[in-house]
Amino acid sequence: MSKKMILMSAVVAFLVAAVGSVFAAGHETPESKAVEARQGYMKLVGASSGPIWGLLKGETEYSDDLAKKIASELGALARYPVGQFFIKGTSKSEMAGKTRALMKIWEDMGGFEKALGDWASAATALEAAAAGGKDAFMAAAGKYGDTCGGCHKPYRAKDL
Ligand code: HEC
Repeated sequence: MSKKMILMSAVVAFLVAAVGSVFAAGHETPESKAVEARQGYMKLVGASSGPIWGLLKGETEYSDDLAKKIASELGALARYPVGQFFIKGTSKSEMAGKTRALMKIWEDMGGFEKALGDWASAATALEAAAAGGKDAFMAAAGKYGDTCGGCHKPYRAKDL
C-alpha cells in the first residue's frame, strides 16, 4: 500500500468512527435523557447521604459544621423537582437494561409521590435539626435513613 493509500484509509476509518458516534448520540431520546437525569440525581443523593451513614454507624465524628453541610446539600436536593424525570415509558418493563424503576411507580403514582414526599420532608427536617445540636441531628438522621427503603423496596428493582 502506498503512503497515500494508508493515509486515505486512516481518514476513512476516522470518518466512519466519527459518523458512528454522531449516530449513537442521535439515539438519545427524551426517555433516555430522563433516565440518566434521575440516576444522576440519585447518585448525588447517595453521595451527600454518605456522611450520614458514617455518623449513624459511629464511624464519623459529629460536628455542627458537618451537620450543617449535610443538611444544606440534602435540603437543596430535596427541593429539586426530580419527579419530572419519571415520565411515562421509562419503566424497567419498557427500557430493560437501562433502568431499575419498576412499572409499579406509574401504576401507583400516588404512593410513589408519597414516598418521595416523605424523603424530602425528612431531608429538609435535617436543616432545622442541624441548628439544634448533636442529639437533634442524630434523631433526624435516623429518620432520614429509613426513607430510602420506603421507596426502593416497593418501586426499585434489584438490578437493571
Ligand atoms: C421516591 C423514591 C425514592 C427515594 C425516596 C429514594 N430513591 Fe434512590 N432510587 C429510586 C429509583 C426509582 C431508582 C432507580 C432509578 C433508575 O434506575 O432509573 C433509585 C436509584 C438509586 C441509586 C442508584 C443510582 C444509579 O443508577 O447509579 C442510588 C445510589 C440511590 N437511589 C440512593 C438513594 C438514597 C441514599 C436514598 C435515601 C437517602 C434514596 N435513594 C431515596 C427511588 C428513590
